[in-house]
Amino acid sequence: MKIKVNENYRLLEKNYLFSEVARRVARYREAHPEAKIIHLGIGDVTLPLPKVVTRAMAAAVEEMASRETFRGYAPEAGYDFLLKAIQRHYRRFGVELALGEIFTCDGAKSDVANLTELFGENLVCIPDPVYPVYLDSNLMLGREVAFLPATRENEYLPGPAELEDAVGHALEGVIIYLCSPNNPTGAVYDHAQLEEWVRFARATGSLIIFDSAYEAFVTGDFPHSIFEVEGAKACAIEVASLSKSAGFTGTRCSWTVVPEELEAGGMHLNEMWLRRQTTKFNGVPYVVQRGAEAALSPEGEAECAALVDYYRENAELMGSVFRDCGIAFTGGAQSPYLWVTCPRGMGSWEFFDWLLEDVNVVGTPGAGFGAYGEGHLRLTSFGSHEATAEACERLRRFL
Ligand code: MLT
Repeated sequence: MKIKVNENYRLLEKNYLFSEVARRVARYREAHPEAKIIHLGIGDVTLPLPKVVTRAMAAAVEEMASRETFRGYAPEAGYDFLLKAIQRHYRRFGVELALGEIFTCDGAKSDVANLTELFGENLVCIPDPVYPVYLDSNLMLGREVAFLPATRENEYLPGPAELEDAVGHALEGVIIYLCSPNNPTGAVYDHAQLEEWVRFARATGSLIIFDSAYEAFVTGDFPHSIFEVEGAKACAIEVASLSKSAGFTGTRCSWTVVPEELEAGGMHLNEMWLRRQTTKFNGVPYVVQRGAEAALSPEGEAECAALVDYYRENAELMGSVFRDCGIAFTGGAQSPYLWVTCPRGMGSWEFFDWLLEDVNVVGTPGAGFGAYGEGHLRLTSFGSHEATAEACERLRRFL
């Protein structure tokens, strides 16, 4: 063909991280069909949807089966019943949102990646290690990226001062990605640290894209939302999801909050996002929106909390194995991920291969989350109790 392609795709790794992991596991399985592989790689939940959710979805399916209650295209940003449920959810953290600031979607991944379309040529600042979609989606557009090292020294919670150090000069108009609780390290910013980021963003005319996909795992006095910080509505967008809190990885529902006051270059980001979404997205299915509403109801929140507690127990068990074996790790307490230092000086992929081949346990190599992730491996606590216990027993034996 003689068409021109997006040359920026040359900048990407050949495969998306989790596809590469799946590819290697499939290859191993083909060669060893008898292997009893335990998957603690991709952060995919294993418990079924809360009962209140499936009941609401079943009722919605019935509605779709009748001429009187059938629904076609959904309202652009979501039905009012769901937007109001999200609004109430934020009130638990003392955050007040206008309904027009909330946009529902089929997953945080889509929104995180698609938000890049709203911006022109800015420096993009991405913590390292972090969820690979931030980097890949910016590379696809040929954006200039600066990495913000998240290391043991800064407890995996880099701040604005480190960003200026990393770049080597004063900054303005930067797009900054923050993920708290962090994927993959499990580190959580406290109020003072997020205040510092908000102060920096406002002082430099920068924008924070805050990924709160793991907010349900937060305990104690840590922020669940960037909007708990005063002034954040003038400099931040937040992406949230029901994937991990309500078991929606296969059901798909998330939302993005774009405050009305966000303005740059004489344009309102809220209006731009509405324009983008109405052009390119036709909304979350009605049945799923009813399920999401139920997940955010008081009964739903109690059922979701029980799911999170179940995964927390897994994380505790996994943590006890690494502690007993003298292997350093972070996370697991306020996050479903354990960020483990590879033993015996192994590299990330080396440890991954060893775990897969000798222990038949799948993790995610830290290097896939960024250069500073090298020497680490991420394990998820989203398995069943039985599979996690079996993996822990094997780990104890082999480590
Ligand atoms: C992860 O394992 O980091 C995520 O679950 C993958 C995703 O959400 O795309």
